[in-house]
Amino acid sequence: MADAQYRSGDSRRAFLRKVGVSGGAGAMFATMGALGLAPSAQAAQREEPFRGLRAGDFSVSGRGAAKVVVVGGGIAGLTTAYELGKAGYDCTVLEARGRTGGRNFTVRGGDSTTDLYGNKQTARFSDGQYMNCGPARIAQWMVTLDYCRELGVPIEVFTNVNADAYLYNESAGMTKPVRYRTAKADVYGYVSELLAKATDKGALDKELTSDDQEKLVDFLKDWGALGDKLTYEGGERRGYTTVPAAAGTPGALLGDVPSASEVFASGVGRYFSFEFGFDQAMLMFQPVGGMDQIPKALTKAVGAHRIRTGAVVKKISDTGRGVSVTYAQDGRTRVVEADYCVAALPPNILAKVPHNLGSGVQSALEAITPSSAAKIGLEYRSRWWELDHGIYGGITETDQDVTHIWHPSHGFHGERGVVVGYYNYGDDADSYAKLTPKAREARAVAAGVKIYGEKYRSELATSFSHHWRQTPHLEAAWHDTPGGPDDPRYKPLNEPTGRVYFAGDWLSYTDAWQHGAFTSARKAVTALHTRVLSS
Ligand code: ALA
Repeated sequence: MADAQYRSGDSRRAFLRKVGVSGGAGAMFATMGALGLAPSAQAAQREEPFRGLRAGDFSVSGRGAAKVVVVGGGIAGLTTAYELGKAGYDCTVLEARGRTGGRNFTVRGGDSTTDLYGNKQTARFSDGQYMNCGPARIAQWMVTLDYCRELGVPIEVFTNVNADAYLYNESAGMTKPVRYRTAKADVYGYVSELLAKATDKGALDKELTSDDQEKLVDFLKDWGALGDKLTYEGGERRGYTTVPAAAGTPGALLGDVPSASEVFASGVGRYFSFEFGFDQAMLMFQPVGGMDQIPKALTKAVGAHRIRTGAVVKKISDTGRGVSVTYAQDGRTRVVEADYCVAALPPNILAKVPHNLGSGVQSALEAITPSSAAKIGLEYRSRWWELDHGIYGGITETDQDVTHIWHPSHGFHGERGVVVGYYNYGDDADSYAKLTPKAREARAVAAGVKIYGEKYRSELATSFSHHWRQTPHLEAAWHDTPGGPDDPRYKPLNEPTGRVYFAGDWLSYTDAWQHGAFTSARKAVTALHTRVLSS
């Protein structure tokens, strides 16, 4: 069965860790505040402290900016060169792929990829259509938005949760999808009813005063739309078969309110904690025109002349007085000499590059393991999900191996659109990867037809699938860092090893987010600059 959502266990652990950091009592009050039981806690501080580098920094110290070789032209590498460049550092970025951005990859018509199994695809998306194969959403608290602002990358809302999108759990016996709003009304309604009745019968007498119990029941009546007898009986939250309109058309409610037992058996409740996640809560954003507007803007700001693409790193040597990086480009072996190196490529790739940085670095890199994730973009000739289903953006959740189906959050009422037909992880992603692109499409479409009907097949114009574990020079969607990034075994990566610094989302508490790459790069840049200023 597919995962309910993106690594819910990890998210929960991360959430609890953050609650622990901010203090038990404060966190408890925040939670109670959300229930209307206590005053809200103060808002969290948004920005992490970061002082941007300036050319003027050197006029005080009398020292000059150093030469830095940045290995990896993804978000962490580009940000390193961008921030160092503000103080006049002479940076050279080596990027193995033909384009910058790393896992920030937006595919458009004409783009080609060849995966490690040898599947070559050229996207046939029409003009203006695209799929963000990697990062595709940004939370409001993320530094990523600050970079969008600074770099002049326009943003728009990304719809992460939509009341009109569907839930579909075939393994629980569902034969047709249910709307998010309907499932939520039923789950919240029955949970409220049961808790309110238990409270009424004295089940919480040991936990709450009678005054608190009264407030709790008041909250539950409202939250679950309960009647006077504390029972859930459905209502307008579930939706209508005929929506209310002009006088004479009061609307016809969706009939057949399922029993509590049926609702819990359907398993739809497992999807609802997703939107509570600190990193997934609405509003969320995306750059207008594709996520790769971010690396494009960074590349421009760094200067294309400083970036060598198609440059595959073969060796990193700390010479004691500098760093020497050997790379292959166009069939030739070349070397960059610099004062310092920032290694900003994925740990699973870096672990394969010969170096003289010691066994501590090597064992730390090898402890971090790569994970799979994949997407398929299905371009349709019509936006039937808007026309026939009234779904404008948002995500349909399934227990099928496609896991998530994303409706586009842009181009509403346009002629065509790209639906992400699967966004899946782990074994599901790997099993699709083993198929030919055509077979991936057929399997994804078959799953979608069960939910949306025949147009999911008949309106399809073209598709493009992308699997990160099978992508050359990256070979991972994200990484598992056992013990978290501050585990002592990663000390040689979190502190410079000789003249080599490390950066990447995988060295952050927000792995699999650009925010992690940006903040990790800022950390490396700050440490390097402090050293240069004082050396
Ligand atoms: N950050 C990635 C997502 O939101 C993994 O799906």
